[in-house]
Amino acid sequence: MEILRVADIMASHPEHERDPRPEIYGLGAAFTTDHYGPLIEASVPLVDCGFMHADAVYDVVSVSRGSFFRLDHHQERLARSCRAIRLESPMDREQEAEILHRIVALSGLKDAYVWWAVTRGLPPLGRGDMIDPKQFSPRFYAFASPFVWLADDDQRARGMDLVLSRERVRISPRAVDPRAKNFHWLDMQMALFEAGERGGEWAVLPDEDGYLTEATGANIFVVRDGVALTPDTGCLEGITRQSVMDLCAELGIGAKTTRIHRDELDDADEIFLTTTAGSIMPARSLDGRPIGGRNRPGEISIALHNRYWERRWEGWDATPVRYDLAEG
Ligand SMILES: Cc1ncc(COP(=O)(O)O)c(C=O)c1O
Repeated sequence: MEILRVADIMASHPEHERDPRPEIYGLGAAFTTDHYGPLIEASVPLVDCGFMHADAVYDVVSVSRGSFFRLDHHQERLARSCRAIRLESPMDREQEAEILHRIVALSGLKDAYVWWAVTRGLPPLGRGDMIDPKQFSPRFYAFASPFVWLADDDQRARGMDLVLSRERVRISPRAVDPRAKNFHWLDMQMALFEAGERGGEWAVLPDEDGYLTEATGANIFVVRDGVALTPDTGCLEGITRQSVMDLCAELGIGAKTTRIHRDELDDADEIFLTTTAGSIMPARSLDGRPIGGRNRPGEISIALHNRYWERRWEGWDATPVRYDLAEG
């Protein structure tokens, strides 16, 4: 089975054509605190704790063919992330949704990467009451930009070259809970640089005991004996990961969350990553060794990838973007 060249389809199919907008919106549109504008002009105050201390949670939802995918799931997760770090968003659910619709409408994009964050905001500067979350002023930021591909059509077609980090482990959930989608990225970014140095394209991180957690900005699945396995702890509960579980149920493929030790990877038949920014990304090698003896994507990975996009374009859990909001 051939993998669908989704980026090519986005670039050529009329239903993906961007609505005309002023050139300054080329990079996309943003909302910062209380106003809308071009992404290129958006900024964050230097003293925002999100910037200074990575004290923030965020989420990313995607738009394709003019519709959000699983917007409710993403909004629900952001609300959970806020609660997990004792942060109160300045926006309620309806206001948040309206901002997300409006930034996509302002960008005119039919395929978009839509990022939004709630930060701890401005600290009680010069006063000693950082012990009280109520003394901060949380802030809300959002932007919509052209769809982001963590792995492009060619990489997904031939399979990614993964590296399992030796130098880094994913931060302990007792230090920073990865289920609250947060700004702590250094472990994942350092593992990515290590992957580059070791001739790979993307990194996977174990925990202290050698069990897989997730990849940089993505969840990992290992297919063994026809069953798709994904780590049950130490990782973000990805919406694409959940979508893959749903697709497995539809396609009659076994799927489960479980512990997976690094030593078990030698008998993996297939490995793929999942994330909003790139969908389902098959791998061909791990640490320089071909996966499943093939050195190309496996059939289950390709079937899930193609089904994911077909189902999305059929309207699966889709919320059409309110492009009329660009006027208001
Ligand atoms: C650390 C991490 N894990 C997993 C994911 C995948 O989550 P989702 O499928 O909801 O995009 C992301 C997405 O950015 C992430 O940052």
